[in-house]
Amino acid sequence: MQQRTPLIAGNWKMHKTVDQARETARQLAALAADADGVEAMIAPPFTALAPVAEVLGQGPVRLGAQNLFHEDEGAFTGEVSAPMLVSAGCRYVIIGHSERRQYFGETDRTVNLKIAAALRAGLRPIFCIGESETEREAQKTFSVLDKQVRKGLEGLSLAQLTPLVMAYEPVWAIGTGKAASPQQAQEVHAFVRSLLAEMYDTALAQSVRILYGGSVKPANVRELMALADVDGALVGGASLDAGTFSQLINYRK
Ligand code: 13P
Repeated sequence: MQQRTPLIAGNWKMHKTVDQARETARQLAALAADADGVEAMIAPPFTALAPVAEVLGQGPVRLGAQNLFHEDEGAFTGEVSAPMLVSAGCRYVIIGHSERRQYFGETDRTVNLKIAAALRAGLRPIFCIGESETEREAQKTFSVLDKQVRKGLEGLSLAQLTPLVMAYEPVWAIGTGKAASPQQAQEVHAFVRSLLAEMYDTALAQSVRILYGGSVKPANVRELMALADVDGALVGGASLDAGTFSQLINYRK
């Protein structure tokens, strides 16, 4: 059975000035120093990436970004590329978050281009998928996720996908305090893993980490992390405070 190192990732969304980000990162680096085989990552807003990279240094917490543009450079006002994120100290990048799809017009196609750009630059993409409440109620969860995964990974080869991380974030669970039940999460994660096995092979499917996101808190992290196909968490609100987020990182203790 494949060993997948758990990843607890914090998505700070549009929160924290440079000073606030530095301070939280400083506290977190100290609190996460001895995380018992768990990998930790934070994704501050673009403006705080380089300053937070300095604070984190070679310590236990890794740095990620929340988005990128798929071209490497050029006349694309307001955008940030994968090589720029690498140069700012990022190892990870969140791609296709439902807020990007909902408010910023991202589609399966743009998500596909962004995943390819991240991989080209040596970044690990955290590829987000998830169904809305209406889609779940209409029994469309699996068909929606099937399409998001197939289109998001279109044209990408098995050899390219070794660094891939997936995140299942049901839209109805984000910021609502209503996390998916362990049964709902495990069922979807197992489905995604079998889909990867069908599209690529079993070895890739067994090695890709699939994170759960949506109202993960200290009170529910253990039951989620105990599930066979849940390999980590993508955390919004509970990642903003170093004390709370370190409880998630240290869930094994
Ligand atoms: P919450 O943890 O605030 O529900 O947000 C989840 C999320 O969107 C992480 O990307």
